[in-house]
Amino acid sequence: MAKSIFHSALLFTIFSISIFISQFLITTIAGEQHGFGRSLSRSKLGLKKEKLTHFRVYWHDVVGGPKPTSVMIVRPPNSTSNGGFGQVTMIDNVLTMGPELNSKLVGRSQGLYALASQSEVGLLMLMNFAFMEGKYNGSTISIMGRNTVFSQVREMPIIGGSGLFRFARGYVQARTNMFDFKTGDATVEYNVYVLHY
Ligand SMILES: *[C@@H]1O[C@H](CO)[C@@H](O)[C@H](O)[C@H]1NC(C)=O
Ligand SMILES: *[C@@H]1O[C@H](CO)[C@@H](O)[C@H](O)[C@H]1NC(C)=O
Repeated sequence: MAKSIFHSALLFTIFSISIFISQFLITTIAGEQHGFGRSLSRSKLGLKKEKLTHFRVYWHDVVGGPKPTSVMIVRPPNSTSNGGFGQVTMIDNVLTMGPELNSKLVGRSQGLYALASQSEVGLLMLMNFAFMEGKYNGSTISIMGRNTVFSQVREMPIIGGSGLFRFARGYVQARTNMFDFKTGDATVEYNVYVLHY
């Protein structure tokens, strides 16, 4: 009887020690003991249910006239400039509620686009939509994608965001609303579909 109690106690001790050692190994390997990484509950960051929001805004590429918001900053060398490949343009374009340039301002699209295709007009777009209206004022979404401007609909990924759009993901669909061949100015309708908290 005493022998079997001793036996169980011994087993229990070995069991406890092995648990302790494996816990120690897990925390050490996971780096928690170093104090720079830890898992966090979503509620601690105030994150509630993920939402889906749709925006429709108009993006104005003003190239010509006295106050361009879209400025070429890199001109490709003549030898490689088939179709302008390599050209880079910096933008601070307004985003408005309606298709008219003077309709209500809702934000700005800041970033750049580059001619990234040697066989068609295919742009690499890299821009932040900085919202300036209502509760979205100060929040941003970041877009990076491929824009073949002569296609009817161009889809580009939303790769992140800030403020109300922390942890954002989603996509935008761009449709040209107006293109002025004389000045190069364009108005593009952007439909934004964004998941965020
Ligand atoms: C490159 O092309 C532009 C416009 O066609 C021209 O003005 C310029 O002189 C050319 N540069 C060289 C180095 O050939
Ligand atoms: C947006 O926020 C900025 C900075 O806080 C403020 O100056 C501006 O008036 C706000 N705009 C609107 C439309 O609320």
